[in-house]
Amino acid sequence: MSSVTGGSNRVVSGMRPTGSMHLGHLHGALKNWIKLQYEYECFFFVADWHALTTDYENPMSIQASTREMVVDWLAAGINPASATIFVQSDIIEHAELHLLLSMITPLGWLERVPTYKDQQEKLKEKDLATYGFLGYPLLQSADVLIYGAKYVPVGEDQVAHLEMTREVARRFNHLYGREEDFDKKALRATRLLGQHNRAEYLEARRRYQEKGDAEALAIGQNIVSSCPRLTVADTDRLLGYLEGVGRTILVEPEPLLAPTSKVPGLDGQKMSKSYGNAIGLREDPDTIAKKLRTMQTDPARVRRTDPGDPAKCPVWDFHKIYSDEATCRWVNEGCRSASIGCVECKKPIIDAVLAELEPIRARARMHEEDEDAVRTILHEGRERARDVARETMDDVREAMGLE
Ligand code: TRP
Ligand code: SF4
Repeated sequence: MSSVTGGSNRVVSGMRPTGSMHLGHLHGALKNWIKLQYEYECFFFVADWHALTTDYENPMSIQASTREMVVDWLAAGINPASATIFVQSDIIEHAELHLLLSMITPLGWLERVPTYKDQQEKLKEKDLATYGFLGYPLLQSADVLIYGAKYVPVGEDQVAHLEMTREVARRFNHLYGREEDFDKKALRATRLLGQHNRAEYLEARRRYQEKGDAEALAIGQNIVSSCPRLTVADTDRLLGYLEGVGRTILVEPEPLLAPTSKVPGLDGQKMSKSYGNAIGLREDPDTIAKKLRTMQTDPARVRRTDPGDPAKCPVWDFHKIYSDEATCRWVNEGCRSASIGCVECKKPIIDAVLAELEPIRARARMHEEDEDAVRTILHEGRERARDVARETMDDVREAMGLE
C-alpha cells in the first residue's frame, strides 16, 4: 500500500508546459529525471495550472504545449513504466490541498519568496498583481506535499519554494497533527502490532524518549513500518507516538539539487525559446548544424590568427558537456594560441549534438504519429497519481475535521 509516510523514496517534480523542449531542458532537468526514475518512485507532471498564473490571458495554447512537452519527455527517455507521468489539472486534489493550505499560510511567507518580486519585474508586460500569482509557491507546495515526496529535483531558483513548503508542512502538522485523543488512539493502534512487537515497540519508545537512543528509534520505526496490518493513519500515529510528537500528516520534502550542466544559448545567454537562441530537440540536423556553425564565439577572435579565451566563448560550455578531456585540452590550447579556428573547434560539438539528438528525434516522431499512445500514458499516470493524492487528502480532511 502506498502511504504518505511510506513515501520516503518518492520524488516529485513538475515543469510548466512550455511546448517542445530544447537542449537546455535536456541537460538542465530531463537527464536528471531520467536517472532518478530508476532510483526512486518518481512522479513527473505538467504544471499547467502554474502556466495559468502568468499566461492567464492566453490559456488556449497550454494544452498543445502540454502535448508537445510530453512527447519530448518520452523521446528523451522518461519511461512511463518507471515514472508516473501526468497533468496537474487532471488531479483536482492539488487544488483542494492548495485551498486548505492557504488558510494557514501567512501572507508574509508568500510575499517574501524571491521569485515573486523578481518575476513581476521581469514580466512587466503582464499584470501579475493577482491572487493566483502570489499563491504560485503554495500551489507548488500542494503539488509536492500531496504525494508525500521526500525529494524534489529543482533548480537553484526554486529552493526558496521548497523551503516554504517545509514551513507549511511543519505548520500543518503542528496545528492538526495533535488529535484530541492522540495518546489513546496511538495506544489502541499498538495492539495491532501483535503482543511481541508491541512490547518491543513500547520499550523502544521508552528508551528513545528517556535517553534519546537513536538505535531504539530505528527499531521502533522498523516495527511500525513492517507491520502490514496498520492503516496509513495508524502508521502515522505510531511513528509520531514513538518520537513524542503528533502525527506527521504532511512530509517535509528536501530539494535535490541536480549536478546540472548549463547549456548556454547560441548567443551565450541562457537558452530560451523566447530569446531565439535555442536548439530544439526535434529540429532537423541541417538547421542545427547551421545554428552551431554560426553561433557566437569569443569576440576577440576577429581574424583566424587572433588568439581567444574559451572562458569568454559559449562554444566552450558545449565542450564541457560533450567533449572528453583530450578534446577539451585541444580546444583550450588551440584557442589561446590561435592554432585552431572556430569552425574547426565547433566540429566535434556539431557531431556530438547531432548524435545525441538523432535517437530522440526518431522516438519523438513515433509519438507524434501515435497520439493515442501519449493520451493513454497520461491517463494511466492520472490514475496512479490520483490514488496517492486521494489517500493524502483523506488524511488531511480527517485531521482538519472535514469528514
Ligand atoms: N515552479 C516550477 C518551475 O517553474 C514548476 C513546478 C510546479 C514544480 N510545481 C512543482 C517543480 C512541484 C517541482 C515540484 O520550474
Ligand atoms: Fe570559442 Fe573554440 Fe573559437 Fe575559442 S576556438 S573562440 S573556444 S569556438
